[in-house]
Amino acid sequence: MSGILTIDREKLVTQAKQIQGGTPTIAVVKNNAYNFGLELAVRAFLEAGITAFATTSLKEAETIRKITDDSMVFLLNPTYEFDFVKSLDLDMTLPSLEYYKKYYEELKGINVHMEYAGLFNRSGFESFSEVEEVLNHQLTLDENERFIIRGAWCHFGYADEFDGVYETERKNWLDFISHFKKLDMELEYVHSQNTASFSRDGLLDGHTHTRLGIGLYGSKPYSGLNDDLFIQTFDLYSKVVQIRNMDEDMPMGYGGSFVADRKTKVAVVDIGYGDGILRKRAAYDCLINGKRYPIVTLMMSHMIVEVDEEVSINDKVYIYHPEMRLDEYTFKGVGANSEQLATFNYNTLTKEIIHDS
Ligand SMILES: Cc1ncc(COP(=O)(O)O)c(C=O)c1O
Repeated sequence: MSGILTIDREKLVTQAKQIQGGTPTIAVVKNNAYNFGLELAVRAFLEAGITAFATTSLKEAETIRKITDDSMVFLLNPTYEFDFVKSLDLDMTLPSLEYYKKYYEELKGINVHMEYAGLFNRSGFESFSEVEEVLNHQLTLDENERFIIRGAWCHFGYADEFDGVYETERKNWLDFISHFKKLDMELEYVHSQNTASFSRDGLLDGHTHTRLGIGLYGSKPYSGLNDDLFIQTFDLYSKVVQIRNMDEDMPMGYGGSFVADRKTKVAVVDIGYGDGILRKRAAYDCLINGKRYPIVTLMMSHMIVEVDEEVSINDKVYIYHPEMRLDEYTFKGVGANSEQLATFNYNTLTKEIIHDS
């Protein structure tokens, strides 16, 4: 059977509605919508009232545009496919002064959002004086040769950490956008806040939108937040295919990866790292009939769990569940929420959507 990933569409819509709380939101749907499925997520988020989407990929932008012809679709990555961007009426990042100097002619008529590098510094303008150079150069062009400045944005790299660096990056960015105001420039999209920043601060001054990823899908960006604000929107389970009785010192698995330290019982479950379960996740527990049991070994297509008399063949073994949240394992150090999601292998897992309208 291998694993079953069950996504609850109704919960996804509810979560997307509740996290926004009425704040205009750009939904980050890159990497196949955090591996939930691009089309499923875009349609669910549209139903939740979202009309702006961001991705890194042209292919995904095209898919989004096919689903919704009046939403804003923002390309987070610099692109060189200018005709494609125009033909799909996409918005795109303007990632640096160097890029502008090289491509300003191709950018005519395109909606751009000026990117600030900040401390994240993956790309973006270093300072507002660089932006001014661009603005001044645009004024030397005929109006029909110019691009359309529709937004400004940056990405926070420290919003889920509490060591004071976030406050600095936030301050630098707020200083940066204050210059648009001084020039009397009203931008339609000013966005910087991921789930962590929005959870901490609400919508920041001078912003028009949040730009949320993981919170829309139902996981907490840092620990200590209330479970009710982040609905676990999916389950992942497989089933017990065998129960084996083990004597003390009996080995099991490759190279005896599990050796019983007493007479015990183990369940063989047909899900493994080949299905996308991270080895670090297998250092913890799983949920069978509402009770937690330790995973003791992970193989490509199997997982061994130490169990008791209450567990039988065919019982469901949950890796993720509302009582066994994805973010619990993030905070235990298994990997980022998105990292745990990204490894799900749809060539071997079965994906089921429930409460699909
Ligand atoms: C540029 C950018 N904006 C927003 C997000 C959303 O962040 P989160 O999933 O933490 O809400 C991401 C996620 O990686 C991102 O790369």
